Amino acid sequence: MCPYVLFMYIRDNIAKRKLELIREDIAEGNDYTQPWLDLDVEAYRLYREKKTKILPEPYCNDVVSRTVMNNINGKKVLCLAGGGGQQSAVFSLLGASVTVLDLTPEQLESDKRAARHYGYNVNTIQGDMRELSVLPESHYDLIYQPISTLFIPDLGELYREVVRVLKNGGLYFSDYAVPLLYMAEDKGWDGRGYVLRITEPYRRGAILETEDEKLNFSEGESFSEFHHLLSDIINGLIAEGLTIKGLWENPRPDNEFPVDNLIPGSEQHRDRYIPFGLSVIAYKE
Ligand SMILES: C[S@@+](CC[C@H](N)C(=O)[O-])C[C@H]1O[C@@H](n2cnc3c(N)ncnc32)[C@H](O)[C@@H]1O
Repeated sequence: MCPYVLFMYIRDNIAKRKLELIREDIAEGNDYTQPWLDLDVEAYRLYREKKTKILPEPYCNDVVSRTVMNNINGKKVLCLAGGGGQQSAVFSLLGASVTVLDLTPEQLESDKRAARHYGYNVNTIQGDMRELSVLPESHYDLIYQPISTLFIPDLGELYREVVRVLKNGGLYFSDYAVPLLYMAEDKGWDGRGYVLRITEPYRRGAILETEDEKLNFSEGESFSEFHHLLSDIINGLIAEGLTIKGLWENPRPDNEFPVDNLIPGSEQHRDRYIPFGLSVIAYKE
């Protein structure tokens, strides 16, 4: 039994299994479970007070980060499925009033730990991104969702909730796994290039993993992840009345140092050849 909350909202077996897996990552100290406690508070103050245009690390000063982090002082931000004490710390140091909604109580505890460390307040809610009825309507200036949409089968359900709680003029940022590449078998660098093998039809669905770690749609264990089509991601936002402001690959070639300095086959080198993520920013008119 978790010591942090007496009642937890676990909507279904998808959430139940995901919670178990996130807890294994927490036990292993995975990066996304560690709060950012070494942010440069003074650099954030200067940025917040518009005394510098350089956005402090760990975010780089590119169009995506600037779009969501500029002028956020005094605004209401929802970090959706964004627990862990990372983005809540950044937005709080930028002067926003931050709410974090996340499935995992321990992740929310890290948000509180970061808040105590820097001396601000954060509102944390244990919940499910598909069910935001605990949040007020038309309230948030920014909803920031780190990579987590792949944990639910139906994006439409999430997008409807997002639209309901977003203010008119508010922004919705979300990171996604790149469709197709997510299911490709990575055969690594063969001396001439990266070899990917596509063995699954391109379609949406629940991803399963066989004992020999092959991802597919028909056999093996569920780890509560789902493959979405690019059209589901983009058209789903449009269908709920949101307007797309932009879409960017991650990592973005424009930000990265020269590829010649990287070792072929290394993670950094591979990421320069095969972007793993997409960032999408939409807004509610
Ligand atoms: C990869 S982490 C992203 C957050 C982290 N701050 C980061 O920077 O990477 C994904 C988060 O999604 C949460 N999550 C998974 N399924 C969820 C659901 N159905 N509703 C709300 N949160 C969920 C997990 O607890 C986890 O904290």
